Amino acid sequence: TKCIGILTSGGDCPGLNAAIRGVAKAALGQGTKVIGIKDGFRGLVENRMRALEDGDVSGILTHGGTFLGSSRDKPHRMPMGGKVLDMTEVAVSNAQKNHIDCLICLGGNGTQKNAMRLHEAGLNVITLPKTIDNDVAGTDITFGFDSSMAIATEAIDRLHTTASSHHRAIVCEIMGNKAGWLALGAGIAGGADVILLPEIPYDMDHVVGHLLERRHHNKRFSIIAVAEGAISKQEDQDGRKKKNMASDEEIEGLIAEPVANRIAREIQQAAGIEVRYTSLGHVQRGGTPTATDRLLSTRFGTKAGELLQDGIYNVMVGLKGEHCVAVPLAEVAGLTKVIPPNHPWLKAAALVDTCLGDELN
Ligand code: F6P
Repeated sequence: TKCIGILTSGGDCPGLNAAIRGVAKAALGQGTKVIGIKDGFRGLVENRMRALEDGDVSGILTHGGTFLGSSRDKPHRMPMGGKVLDMTEVAVSNAQKNHIDCLICLGGNGTQKNAMRLHEAGLNVITLPKTIDNDVAGTDITFGFDSSMAIATEAIDRLHTTASSHHRAIVCEIMGNKAGWLALGAGIAGGADVILLPEIPYDMDHVVGHLLERRHHNKRFSIIAVAEGAISKQEDQDGRKKKNMASDEEIEGLIAEPVANRIAREIQQAAGIEVRYTSLGHVQRGGTPTATDRLLSTRFGTKAGELLQDGIYNVMVGLKGEHCVAVPLAEVAGLTKVIPPNHPWLKAAALVDTCLGDELN
C-alpha cells in the first residue's frame, strides 16, 4: 500500500477543505494510506501528523479555511526556539519515518518553491495551486480565487449604494499580493469606475481627470478598486517593490498603512471631492467556497489521486482549458503569473469606460 501525507501551506483560502477531501477520498478509495500533517511545513518538521480516515474528511466540502491548519513556514528557513534554522533534512526524514511515499502540498507560489526544494532533497511531491491571488503559473486558475472575487464583488456592490447616497468617492482595497487579478475581476464584476493594478502603474492626474469627468456628467459617486500592490508611475520609476506592504515593515512584523488610505487622501486633495476608504483585508479569505471553487478543488484533488495511482510525481495539478493536467513542478516553482498587458479583461474594462490608471498601450 502506498502512503501519502497532505499539508496546506501559506495563506488559507476557501476551497482548501474541499481539495483535501478530494485528495483523501480518491487516495483512500485506491487503498492508499492518508496522513494529515498539521500547520503546513512546520507540522512536518515537528512531526505533528496523524492518519486520516474517510470520516475525517466527510462533511467538510463547504467549510472555509483548512482543518489541517496552515502556516507560512519554509523548511529551509524555519524559526525554531529563537533561531532561524534549515530544517530540510528533518522534514525529509520525518516523511520517511512515517513511510510517506508522496507529499501532497496545497499552496500558492511559496509552497511550489518549498515543495520543489523537498523534491530536490529526495521526496516525491505533488502540489495543488491554491490562492485567492490567482498568480500561480502553469494553470488557468487557482482555487480560492472565485470565492474571493465573489466576496470582493459583493463588497463593491455594497459600497456603491452608500457612495451614491452620499455623492462620495470610495476607495476599496483588494488583496492579491503582487498581482491584480482579484482587483481587476471584482472591479469589473462590481462595475468599479477606476481599477488600479500593480501591472499598470497609475498616473494620479489621469485618475482625477476621470473622476472629475464623471462629476461633469452628473455621476456624483465613484468606486475606485485598488489592488493592494498598486503603485504610482513615480513609485515604479523609483524602482519601488511592487507591493505596498513594504518588505521592511513585513520583516519587522508591523502593519503597513493600507494603500487605499493613501490613495483616498491623494484623490481628496487633488480632486476636491469627499472620499472614504475601505480595506477588505482577510474578509476576502474567509467563509464558504463558491460552487465553482468546490468543483475546481474537487477536480484538482481527485486528479492528484489519479496521478498517485499512475506514479506520476513532482508535478503541480493545473487547469488548462477544460482539463486538469500535470505540469512539471520545475516549470512553475519560482514564477509569478501577473496580468499580461494584452489580457482580454483589461480590454473589456476599458470598453465599459473603466479608468485603469493610465492610457492602455
Ligand atoms: O496570498 C494570499 C494573501 O491574502 C495576499 O493577497 C496577501 O498579500 C497576503 O496573503 C496576506 O498575508 P497574511 O494573511 O499573512 O497577512
